[in-house]
Amino acid sequence: MSAAGSHAATHRVGAVLGLVCSFAVTGAFAENSSDTPPPWVGEARAAAGQLAGRLMPTLQAALQSGGPSNGIAVCSTEAPAIAREVSRPGFEIERTALRVRNPANAADAWEKEVLEDFERQIRAGAEIAALEAWSVELRDGREFGRWMKPILTAPMCTTCHGTEIDAELATTIRTHYPDDQATGFRPGELRGAFTATIELPVHDRPGDDSP
Ligand code: HEC
Repeated sequence: MSAAGSHAATHRVGAVLGLVCSFAVTGAFAENSSDTPPPWVGEARAAAGQLAGRLMPTLQAALQSGGPSNGIAVCSTEAPAIAREVSRPGFEIERTALRVRNPANAADAWEKEVLEDFERQIRAGAEIAALEAWSVELRDGREFGRWMKPILTAPMCTTCHGTEIDAELATTIRTHYPDDQATGFRPGELRGAFTATIELPVHDRPGDDSP
């Protein structure tokens, strides 16, 4: 399934829900029906790549040196810190999921639709690495590009997100995250997604021909 396919499906679901967003703008991309994403998608891809590229080795090193409880510190403080470093004013990248450990990472309406669409496409045989979604949203007269890409459950992730979590570790997790829903994942399953929000400069807006 192509990125454009994912995008079109997301648009359809959003429109059905009647979300207060500029879906007419989103529709314009879908009608172009090209696989070429808008230019700001490149920045989102690069930031997610940086975040993933820095998080994985940091987590691996922490698990090796200090065990899972050390890894918890990495996931809870380092992940948001790296995400902030990779962000800039007008550009924010975070992690979200349908089942979250930290309620602060909960998906909003658009993110939820995209995650559900990712899961549908994965069930239908789509290659996870190829999935991506983007849209343009209107908030208070300002336009924001939104972008998401799946995060896969790797074998190492199951230490803290899997089906059999060490009892002591599970207690530590519960202490910090009493509402934890982010367990029961198996390697290869969709764990969540990177999600970026980008405020669009005026010249990026469709229908505006100024340079
Ligand atoms: C050592 C334990 C540990 C390991 C290993 C771990 N995580 Fe986490 N993960 C956490 C904790 C703790 C949080 C909550 C972070 C926060 O407070 O924002 C979290 C949060 C997340 C989130 C954000 C959504 C949510 O549930 O709040 C994603 C996505 C995620 N982890 C994916 C992964 C992936 C993918 C891996 C493997 C590459 C992984 N994690 C490995 C402990 C872990």
